[in-house]
Amino acid sequence: MAHLLVTGGAGFIGSNFVHHVIGHTDHTVTVLDKLTYAGNEASLAGLPEDRVDLVVGDIADAELVDTLFQKADAVVHYAAESHNDNSLHDPRPFLDTNIIGTYTLLEAARRHDTRLHHISTDEVYGDLELDDPARFTEHTPYNPSSPYSSTKAGSDLLVRAWVRSFGVRATISNCSNNYGPYQHVEKFIPRQITNVIRGIRPKLYGKGENVRDWIHADDHSSAVLTILDKGEIGETYLIGADGEKDNKTVVELILELMGQSPDAYDHVTDRAGHDLRYAIDSTKLRTELGWTPSYQDFEAGLAATIDWYRRNEAWWAPAKDGVEAFYASKGQ
Ligand code: NAD
Ligand code: DAU
Repeated sequence: MAHLLVTGGAGFIGSNFVHHVIGHTDHTVTVLDKLTYAGNEASLAGLPEDRVDLVVGDIADAELVDTLFQKADAVVHYAAESHNDNSLHDPRPFLDTNIIGTYTLLEAARRHDTRLHHISTDEVYGDLELDDPARFTEHTPYNPSSPYSSTKAGSDLLVRAWVRSFGVRATISNCSNNYGPYQHVEKFIPRQITNVIRGIRPKLYGKGENVRDWIHADDHSSAVLTILDKGEIGETYLIGADGEKDNKTVVELILELMGQSPDAYDHVTDRAGHDLRYAIDSTKLRTELGWTPSYQDFEAGLAATIDWYRRNEAWWAPAKDGVEAFYASKGQ
């Protein structure tokens, strides 16, 4: 049994990880989360109080972080500003949390010699052509496009430097697009599902030819536990489940699964600098650490996700109008 400190554990993927840890291990967890607009205490509802506690605070608060590191056997670092569209309108919080926040955690890991796993994204590698036979590997050069992805790239480089210069015991994972329960309604899949529930037409950026490599959040969690358990210090592991789909296909599938006509959506103005395609080659994680994803059927996983949003309107409804008003103010 170990005690884990999980930063950003009230967000989408962090809360899925905490649920996974409670269901699959006997570890205890402290969540450190600032509860920004993206964090939601309700995502941790129902978890055993004697195994999970929530500390509301900022990962850039060095004093608080220092106290929490004293009790942690390992730290899993999810906290971030995570939405590309927001980073195009107000980049500053991305620098504060993704760069300064990660730096603060690394300094604490160095002081306390604490094992740290840093959660990152495939977006640090930039994008691929639609017909490029290559996928991202651990050797692909960094080439981020947005303020979000460039700050995530910066945070990865800080981790690498703290490993090499100070011997910090850290690993990094770069994962592709996650879907599943507890994802904020600003993001593509939950936005379209909740639009349909509300009688609003889904919104597709540009022509919808952009490709994302979808993985269920629970598979991301099992991969992170595998890396914590068996990963080699200083190594980077790419996490993906061979789930490439273009956005048009995904929006049409959501409409079909929700009993609507598959063409009942609007094309809206494209995202500035919109990455065309992400695709992950996760061979290293699979062959060296023996991980495999459980969710092989995207349509079944998407249907279960739609069902979750239908059953949990009280979880997402408070954010929905504000998100749509924000997108409307940007011309959608
Ligand atoms: P999210 O926006 O849903 O959650 C982020 C969480 O971090 C929120 O609970 C928020 O309150 C918290 N947070 C933000 N700033 C903080 C701060 N300064 N101090 C403490 N807590 C703070 O994000 P997500 O989609 O769950 O992403 C989690 C991590 O996974 C991020 O590092 C992201 O880069 C990475 N990632 C996401 C995806 C994806 O598809 N969503 C894919 C690969 C990697
Ligand atoms: O690849 C991993 C990344 O995936 C993570 O690092 C990010 O934190 C996460 O937000 C996600 O980034 P994307 O920009 O790919 O996700 P998003 O859900 O914002 O958009 C997915 C695709 O859908 C993208 O091509 C833009 C498009 N889109 C998005 C929205 C919100 C639409 O067509 N319509 C929309 O309304």
